[in-house]
Amino acid sequence: VNGKVQIPVVVNVLYRTTAENISLAQIQSQIDVLNRDFNATNSDFNQVPSLFAGVKANVGISFVLEAVYRKATTKTSWGTNNAMKIASQGGIAPTTPTTRMNLWSCTIGGGILGYAQFPGGSSSTDGVVIDSKYLGTTGTATFPFNLGRTGTHEVGHWMNLRHIWGDATCGSDLVSDTPTHNAANSGVPAYPSYSTCSGNPVEMTMNYMDYTDDRGMYMFSNGQKSRMAAVFVSGGSRASFRL
Ligand code: ARG
Ligand code: ZN
Ligand code: CA
Repeated sequence: VNGKVQIPVVVNVLYRTTAENISLAQIQSQIDVLNRDFNATNSDFNQVPSLFAGVKANVGISFVLEAVYRKATTKTSWGTNNAMKIASQGGIAPTTPTTRMNLWSCTIGGGILGYAQFPGGSSSTDGVVIDSKYLGTTGTATFPFNLGRTGTHEVGHWMNLRHIWGDATCGSDLVSDTPTHNAANSGVPAYPSYSTCSGNPVEMTMNYMDYTDDRGMYMFSNGQKSRMAAVFVSGGSRASFRL
């Protein structure tokens, strides 16, 4: 990243049950994971296979928790239509989304762990949503998604990263140093896992933008780093986050 990027984070908690009203410690544990995963200080970074040693990245972006807003609700699940971001629908509107990353914690439902808005969208819905059961590493965080990697993955999307399989059979993630995957991976694939796509490359299943369990993902690539950095350069869609 050209010039330091630091992301102030505003967390918006929507809760019906006391369990959904997650603790500050759980919220901070998610911020801590983001700081480790985006700065290559995650303890599993050294598990990256030597095949990918040349492309594993220290993204160099940091996160600071700035505020937590909480609101009670009667909703049992929120879905993915952004209602949690709209006050008139019982949600919490984002706080200054052009200079802060807003993160909503709620029950999404439908087996969805989280979702994010790509750069360039409406600021009124900008940010990431993480189901409270998959947020951070403590409290209600639930195995096998209890290492905060849903947050890492969603923030990757928020910084313009696509899924590593390109959301299509042998699709493209628009990043050249990540191998072409035939489809999403799940669980914790044994290494090496070969792609069925052209050339049968070894898949980078340990990339944060695949769909493995949290303990199966522990790297971004240099190409992904460049794609994220482009969002923050002067003139980029999230340039306001540059220090
Ligand atoms: N399904 C979500 C998405 O596509 C997140 C997947 C996160 N994976 C994980 N191991 N936490 O945005
Ligand atoms: Zn995703
Ligand atoms: Ca690729």
